[in-house]
Amino acid sequence: MTDLNINIFEARRAKVASNMEENSILLLSSSHIVPRNNDTTFPFRQDSNFYYLTGLEEPNSVLMLKSDGSSTIFCRQKNPDLEKWDGFMWGFDEATKHFKFNKGHDISDIDKLLPAMIRGTSVLYSLVGKDKVFDAKVVNWVNSANSMERHQTNIDLKNFSNILGLMRLIKEPEEISLIRKSCEIAAVSHKEVMRKAKVGMTEFDLETMYLNEFKLNGSREPSYTPIVAGGSRACILHYVDNNQTINDGDLVLVDAGCEFGLYASDITRTYPINGKFSGEQKAVYEVVLEAHNAACDAIKVGKSCIDPQRTSEKSLSQGLKDLGLLNGSLDEILDKELYKEFYYHKIGHWLGLDVHDDCPYSINGEDIKLKENMIMTIEPGIYINETAPVDDKWKGIGIRIENDILVTKDGFENLTPQVPVEVDEIEQLMQG
Ligand code: GLY
Ligand code: MN
Ligand code: MN
Repeated sequence: MTDLNINIFEARRAKVASNMEENSILLLSSSHIVPRNNDTTFPFRQDSNFYYLTGLEEPNSVLMLKSDGSSTIFCRQKNPDLEKWDGFMWGFDEATKHFKFNKGHDISDIDKLLPAMIRGTSVLYSLVGKDKVFDAKVVNWVNSANSMERHQTNIDLKNFSNILGLMRLIKEPEEISLIRKSCEIAAVSHKEVMRKAKVGMTEFDLETMYLNEFKLNGSREPSYTPIVAGGSRACILHYVDNNQTINDGDLVLVDAGCEFGLYASDITRTYPINGKFSGEQKAVYEVVLEAHNAACDAIKVGKSCIDPQRTSEKSLSQGLKDLGLLNGSLDEILDKELYKEFYYHKIGHWLGLDVHDDCPYSINGEDIKLKENMIMTIEPGIYINETAPVDDKWKGIGIRIENDILVTKDGFENLTPQVPVEVDEIEQLMQG
């Protein structure tokens, strides 16, 4: 069930409809139940775009939205026998009333009904390429509808992702409240686990503690599989084995966020498991922190969304040069992208219903310009692999710092300030 007022979804549908071409129809599918193994399934998570426009958290559903603003929901028929096994289901009649659609039908009838309903429309939009099975169904419905209209222009099938993505880029006040809460839960959870972390714990111990804190603080699910990487495993960007012991002297990189009301948070902290950074660890950490702060300062309304990326490349390159880890002039390091030896991902991503929010970074080759109420992560990192051409004392250090940032009228707001980020703050918390 949603935490948002139903009118919000209705208003979004009206706004989407006003951006659609005349005499057009949008079709959107829900997520599906995904089998895990025999007789068991993964927890159901509604498709973010479908949820954004409906508020309905049920599988096996399709939204049809017309450019005149009218909407039809296809979803399951209420079935008391099935509810004894799988719990509450709305049924298409109640769903239509509750979520304020104009019409509702049993999803079992969609193949029979839809071709006639889309017959004569000029454009049919869907999110082409997201769901191959749904794509194939859309093509079949379009073919059936076209075959009914021999003497008219055929339906033009178009991708809708940029229209929806651009809308989702600017967060509404209610969305910002939910993201704020998600960020707060993740941040206080990070702080609590940092306080309790001790030498000899395993990555799995820490993962358990993070997930426990998320739930204790009101989040049902993490927003992605947590990364808990001790020592040199921090250099593996998508490390999720989380099964090794964290030894005295190791840093541990934890990238963990949660969902609240389906909205994501995404935080990374890197800290010494024994509570004290070594000289080399601290030196690299300070370079990453400086790049993080510089990238945040590059967030300004009207600037390109790529500016924080360029700023982080420059800041990290200067820092790596100062540490003697990269040689040559700053221009040479940047031109030849020598920093990529140590910084091999991007500065961040949009954040919202999806942790990597499904919104564009450029349209027709032009970078998106930052606007008030966009939310992005800022997450620079330095990863010094065993193969790097540097002195052994640096090898195995992997550090990332990640916060969730709201673009404001005057600059930015860090939505995850509750978790310490300065070296002395972290040491104090861990030694306290
Ligand atoms: N946790 C995924 C990311 O930071 O992009
Ligand atoms: Mn992350
Ligand atoms: Mn991230």
